Amino acid sequence: MKFLALLALVSAAIATPATKQRRQGCDSDVTLSGNPFEGLTLHANSHYAELVTAAAANLTDSSLEAAALAVADVGTFLWLDTISTIDTFESYLQETTCDEIFGVVIYDLPGRDCAAKASNGELAVGEIDRYKSEYIDPIVAIIKNNPNIAIAAIIEPDSLPNLVTNIDQTACANSKSGYEDGVAYALEQLNLPNVMMYVDAGHGGWLGWNDNLAPGAQELAKVYKAAGSPAQVRGISTNVAGWNAWSLSPGEFENAPDGQYNKAQDEKRYVTLFGDALATAGFPNHAIVDTGRNAVQGLRLEWGDWCNVNGAGFGVRPTTDTGLELADAFVWVKPGGESDGTSDSSATRYDSFCGKEDAYKPAPEAGAWNQAYFEMLLENANPALA
Ligand code: BGC
Repeated sequence: MKFLALLALVSAAIATPATKQRRQGCDSDVTLSGNPFEGLTLHANSHYAELVTAAAANLTDSSLEAAALAVADVGTFLWLDTISTIDTFESYLQETTCDEIFGVVIYDLPGRDCAAKASNGELAVGEIDRYKSEYIDPIVAIIKNNPNIAIAAIIEPDSLPNLVTNIDQTACANSKSGYEDGVAYALEQLNLPNVMMYVDAGHGGWLGWNDNLAPGAQELAKVYKAAGSPAQVRGISTNVAGWNAWSLSPGEFENAPDGQYNKAQDEKRYVTLFGDALATAGFPNHAIVDTGRNAVQGLRLEWGDWCNVNGAGFGVRPTTDTGLELADAFVWVKPGGESDGTSDSSATRYDSFCGKEDAYKPAPEAGAWNQAYFEMLLENANPALA
């Protein structure tokens, strides 16, 4: 008897590694339609949670430490900002439970960040084939391998907005065909039942100008139609890594001399106005809005200031309670604590916006951790974190 029992144990132990570790996600495949955040919580991926937990360990103030630990539990998007990050994508994805949705940012176009320097990427203008075969295709393969996990994907922050307003800059003009081809390819290939896509549309201070609304919407619609009008495109993302308030009257820059030329003085008005333009252009017009760092207003010298704004705080936590039908959810997209760009003026990717008076200094390269900035976001969080 004893021997048999032992044998059973041994064979069970041997069998375990063969039967794959049970995946999270749902028992059956996921099909998303409508607002994908309804009834699902944005997943707090362990990539960001680990950065935050390590940062918390450096804090001596116990209430700040508690606030930091609370951030580790807040759902935040994972940025796939290089081909090499795809290696770990599947393991993060498989943490997602059936009552959660995983947020991912697709961000690696050739000639990335054409109107600035801080986030210039690994692929050069013209490397569209590499973007497709070495970046999008492997991501799609991983997602196809996990059809039981719900995913919200933000497609290429800043790219199409740059083609609308910065096409006079050589780098953007040179990037145009690669951006349009690349985004269309991403939309086509990621058009899977368990994925809902949001194409990035900048923010109210960008495509919200009266004269930019229609051209902006037309640019997004052009690329969407080139992709075959994929069913899983739900609309747009706004305020990604941005600072605008959701609803503020008067808006931060509303009384500026040129305020009359922009009616989208907060993101609520932007989502509404740009949403109208999108509907006219034939593009789905629901939105998700990054509220990760928009707690404090009145910090920027100019509306276009985008780099490590000094005095910022963590904003409203992810929720579907937006009060506007067009706005599916407030989400945290930019992981608070990761830099927008280096303040080292001798660095190749130094952008003068990161040296402006309203930018926090010192700051490391885009995406790198800035402990002091993270602590500032905690202190200025609204609502408070813990
Ligand atoms: C950087 C990326 C980074 C992302 C999130 C971007 O500004 O260019 O490298 O992953 O921010 O922090």
